[in-house]
Amino acid sequence: MSAIPRHIAIVMDGNGRWATRRFLPRVAGHRQGVESLRRCVQACLDRDVRVLTVFAFSSENWDRPQDEVSGLMSLMVGVLAKEVMPLKANGVRLHFVGALHALSDKVRRGLEQAERDTADNSKLVLNICFNYGGRWDIAQAAQRLAEAGQPITEASLNEAMALSHVPDPDLVIRTGGEFRISNFLLWQSAYSEFVFSDKLWPDFDTAALDEAIASYGRRERRFGKTSDQVVAGRGA
Ligand code: FPP
Repeated sequence: MSAIPRHIAIVMDGNGRWATRRFLPRVAGHRQGVESLRRCVQACLDRDVRVLTVFAFSSENWDRPQDEVSGLMSLMVGVLAKEVMPLKANGVRLHFVGALHALSDKVRRGLEQAERDTADNSKLVLNICFNYGGRWDIAQAAQRLAEAGQPITEASLNEAMALSHVPDPDLVIRTGGEFRISNFLLWQSAYSEFVFSDKLWPDFDTAALDEAIASYGRRERRFGKTSDQVVAGRGA
């Protein structure tokens, strides 16, 4: 198995605590989270990771205090204005994944423009899950198939899911010391390797990413087979 995962997915948890410990508003933690994301994107480019998928705003995050929700929305608009050109110059292709129709026109138009601006890139696909939930994804895929009168099978659902443009994540990282999936890639992470880090997302540096990748490299991925079969398959 290659030691470098092709697709890394991250639950960027801990921004709020990072800010609270510094007596700052929670949105300051999210702003610092963007810095951490920028560093992580560069590290993935340097390591030849091909897909990075991050959880930036969940279907359930609307229930947070109004000032935090609007802070995250304006942060997204600011990030797009500032980051799209450097991302484009570095070969990153942006995809926004989630129920985008529920966002304000301003935010949605910004996301669509950023996708168009980076559509010719192929070095790294950066999927930003925004107003995303794993259950939403499975339900929307099933609904689309039902409306089209298509049979609902694993293969057809796979095709209809919001991340059908990339392979399933090899490695899922969650920062912030929690051990749960929080409605992230429920379908796509069926055979992913998981790494849980105590570091809060703004503190998750390149060394921590390398540790997670090294841990991944030590795993034996069996996909339901036995260890003997996997070893024999490697020799074939
Ligand atoms: C979870 O930490 C983090 C989020 C809900 C938002 C993640 C967003 C970013 C890292 C910024 C990137 C955003 C854009 C717009 C690209 P938490 O707030 O639940 O932290 P806590 O568990 O410490 O409270």
